[in-house]
Amino acid sequence: MKIIPGTASQILGARIAAELNCELVLCEYRRFPDGELYTRIRGDIEGEHAVIVQSIRSDSDLVALLQLMDAAEDASKITVVIPYLGYARQDKRFKPGEAISIRAIARSITINGTMDTLYVVNVHDPAELHYFEVDCRELDAAPLLGDYIRGMEKQTAPVVVIGPDEGASDLARAVAAPHGLDFDVLHKRRLSGEEVEIEPEELSITIEGKNIVIVDDIISTGGTIAEASRILKEQNAGDIYVACVHGLFVQNAILRMLHAGVREIISTDTVESLFSRVSISKLVANALLSPSSATAFK
Ligand code: R5P
Repeated sequence: MKIIPGTASQILGARIAAELNCELVLCEYRRFPDGELYTRIRGDIEGEHAVIVQSIRSDSDLVALLQLMDAAEDASKITVVIPYLGYARQDKRFKPGEAISIRAIARSITINGTMDTLYVVNVHDPAELHYFEVDCRELDAAPLLGDYIRGMEKQTAPVVVIGPDEGASDLARAVAAPHGLDFDVLHKRRLSGEEVEIEPEELSITIEGKNIVIVDDIISTGGTIAEASRILKEQNAGDIYVACVHGLFVQNAILRMLHAGVREIISTDTVESLFSRVSISKLVANALLSPSSATAFK
């Protein structure tokens, strides 16, 4: 097995190769004068099992992934790991004429049948994986966040886990329940791409004076977390921590969250940043060694 790290997953790719004690294949990425991306796999992968690791956070990440899959044609087997599958939030036609973005992405990467298996991590809605006509498996980073939070709790006061909306309830449960931590969710209404509203309401658990970890699958503009933090602070919560799987942190997300009273931000390395305190490298490595450890989408 040889690991090919894409433009968006360089450190994670290296970590996965280290976990598996296998070769990390160096690639060349540069741009032509007109801005087009040039991609070349520099190592020899002929007859090998090539594992391409590339998150899709942007249009150019998708182009790099398509190029890597094309460049890997001499491999005997191609596995693609997309730690952060962007475009997954536009998974239906909300207004007439809209693209179902995740379907378009799925079609583009599976159309020529070059890939044998696809791994994704905590997709926004697993139901959308039916657009990928390939052996598709989902990895769950929630236990890793749960373990980190448990370790954190040993150094701070007891924590409770809060999801900022109903969509985060499975994640909140998966993070909290194995460690016996209390959890609940707030109720969010999205006003625009950047603004959300959360109504103050009674939670089923006491948060007064307790430290809180707000968990979400994605943090993008930080609007959801900032609003959740503000509401929880109004209810006399103690320190507020934030943990997410995919930390996109666009625009002024970090400042927005800190300004709303967040004390610490934790994310995994599906999207690499300063806040990637939890690595999914072991999770991916285990799945590559034993595919049945990942949830297959049927
Ligand atoms: C939405 O359904 C997701 O789970 C996140 O809550 C959302 O993407 C966060 O976005 P933002 O950080 O821009 O509020």
